[in-house]
Amino acid sequence: MTTYDIAVIGGDGTGPEVTREALKVAEVAAQKFGFQINWHPYNLGGERYLKTGEVLPDSVVTELRQFKAIYLGAIGHPQVKPGILEKGILLRLRFELEQYINLRPVKLYRAVDCPLKDKGPEHIDFVVVRENNEGLYCGAGGFLFKGLPGEVAVQESINTRRGVDRCLKYAFELAQKRRAGQPWQGLKPEDVAAGKTAQLTMVGKTNVLTYAFDLWDRAFHAMGPKYPPVKLDYAHVDATCMWFVKNPEWFDVIVTDNLFGDIITDLAAMIQGGLGVAAGGNINPEGSSMFEPMGGSAPKYTGQNVINPLAAINAAGMMLDFLGEAKAGATIEAAVIQIINTKIQSLAAGKMGYGTKEVGDLVAAAL
Ligand code: IPM
Ligand code: MN
Repeated sequence: MTTYDIAVIGGDGTGPEVTREALKVAEVAAQKFGFQINWHPYNLGGERYLKTGEVLPDSVVTELRQFKAIYLGAIGHPQVKPGILEKGILLRLRFELEQYINLRPVKLYRAVDCPLKDKGPEHIDFVVVRENNEGLYCGAGGFLFKGLPGEVAVQESINTRRGVDRCLKYAFELAQKRRAGQPWQGLKPEDVAAGKTAQLTMVGKTNVLTYAFDLWDRAFHAMGPKYPPVKLDYAHVDATCMWFVKNPEWFDVIVTDNLFGDIITDLAAMIQGGLGVAAGGNINPEGSSMFEPMGGSAPKYTGQNVINPLAAINAAGMMLDFLGEAKAGATIEAAVIQIINTKIQSLAAGKMGYGTKEVGDLVAAAL
């Protein structure tokens, strides 16, 4: 029997409770589809830091590097100064394990949960490929005259051709692989007539960030001809925010830099019904990847059994798909959709009509 070793970081706040539901559902999928999962729990997060002063020991990074997949609940603790855990755990793992892609599918499951009431599931179904190792997240820059009246702070965006190329390659391949050619995905009849079946939109700010996105733009157009079925499209990041709400059906696959990807995927999560369902993967196609619900640790809800575990369960489905269990991944998503359509009242925490654990049980039973 195929066996997967998966590291599990439940983390802080409501992270452990949603993780519990995700692992429960993954276990049912494993039985159903005939594979085995050995879970390896790691105690990381605010509690450990407050007790021991340790954020992420080097030895743990070395161990985590050995896993093909890591499952992450949420990181963030109200008693810990912002930045310590985010940079010390989440960003350090993304960077040191070279998880250079942050993959965030955006799909509306049920119209009633969306502020864009006239849009249905057929209009909102795209994927954001966020560069995950470079840009403004590198921490390049510094202070001059810190604390003095004339103080200067500089924060630089690092964009390497290697980093941009590997991200674009992932996005083009995904665009090519995804079911393509849906009429609502930005493809006009003439595109289809020209043999295009998928669209990749590069999101940037070429009109202002004339160095960083000049490199992105040249790399994008240099690579495009290698993927003839893919239509190349470009949108500024501000316009993208507007279109996410007005015409989300224009998007198929989006590729963008680290900070823009961070920002637009929070908006994207809202148009798909909220953080209750939004999941993502930090992907190193050749190494160790990490899957997480997009929401944070929601400390005020800790232990109340009210948080929506569907995002965490979707992250587990993405993880199984990534490991090669495509059927298990698709079946978990189908079970999530079934529960959304037939059982729960709302995707919002505390308004589901069921508790965290009960929603996990419903999905597990639907599987
Ligand atoms: C995300 C989060 C992180 C980010 C924070 C917690 C560092 O917002 O995963 O989108 O900015 O990447
Ligand atoms: Mn974010």
